[in-house]
Amino acid sequence: MYPLNYIEPVFRPPSEWKSLILQVTNGCSWNQCSFCSMYTDDVKKFKPKHIDSIEQEIVKVAQSGIPTSRVFLADGDAMMLPFKRLKQILALINLHLPQVTRVSSYCLPRNLKNKTVEQLAELNALGLKLMYVGCESGDDEVLSLINKGETYDSSVIALNKIKQSGMKSSVMILNGIGGPEFSHQHALNSARLMNETQPDFLSTLVVSFPFGEARFAENFIKNDCQPFRQLGQLELFKEMEILLTTLELDKTIFRSDHASNYLVLKGVLGKDKETLLLKVKQAQNMPGTIELRQEWERGL
Ligand SMILES: C[S@@+](CC[C@H](N)C(=O)[O-])C[C@H]1O[C@@H](n2cnc3c(N)ncnc32)[C@H](O)[C@@H]1O
Ligand code: SF4
Repeated sequence: MYPLNYIEPVFRPPSEWKSLILQVTNGCSWNQCSFCSMYTDDVKKFKPKHIDSIEQEIVKVAQSGIPTSRVFLADGDAMMLPFKRLKQILALINLHLPQVTRVSSYCLPRNLKNKTVEQLAELNALGLKLMYVGCESGDDEVLSLINKGETYDSSVIALNKIKQSGMKSSVMILNGIGGPEFSHQHALNSARLMNETQPDFLSTLVVSFPFGEARFAENFIKNDCQPFRQLGQLELFKEMEILLTTLELDKTIFRSDHASNYLVLKGVLGKDKETLLLKVKQAQNMPGTIELRQEWERGL
């Protein structure tokens, strides 16, 4: 366990479970996505951390002797920090933890608006290798309804910048986020976004509301849409079938194994597309013949 004083709660991508979680900011600078309650506690009000505190924490980790090869910059969108500050942080990691081989972070498309490809390439050379981008959907109507503050186009621009800089991207898409009314177009346009940008990793999560869905559903009513409801299992599988059918990926590691999913899917797309589709169709057409995560096993 790293000897750091975190402002809890702290979130990280599942694949960063072994990494040093370095809190270089607290909370999320946007914090307005209507499905997300991750940083809504008062203590999680957005604030960048002072560079001296960041250095003290890195030194503490170095002195602890805990082997550290990967670092995840937290919290929700550490990439909102200016280029110069990110460079300073990476330099400190390289100085005190020279064995680190990969630094990663969550990243909103707008975090990259004021950063050039050359600057991102410089950060990449300093060890920043992977951006986790919560696109959530490629459908502009859905993106507006969920208040993501991003569009299909802004997502394409950011994902292309990441690729051009030599960094890798890991995209999150939320299954069920448009409810029944937008399910079809959400799946189609999310696949279109992925096809256009060819991310290195793609994971799908099922949207869940541990604190209730009232806040999320409000925007659907305000915009004269059908009232939102969460998709049932079969509807989620149908949405996944449309997504997978439409995806034309060359070499993307696909994971739908987050604890929020009923049906666990893993593979490389395109190579495993047909196998994954068979599994999704089996889940729809032959219920009971395929293992599903039970409700009590699911979580965020
Ligand atoms: C901690 S958030 C940080 C992501 C980053 N700020 C971004 O927007 O790119 C990580 C991801 O958790 C997922 N998430 C957040 N709230 C969720 C919910 N209610 N249900 C399912 N997934 C959720 C979203 O995919 C989100 O992108
Ligand atoms: S999904 Fe990301 S950008 Fe949206 S509020 Fe949550 S942490 Fe912030």
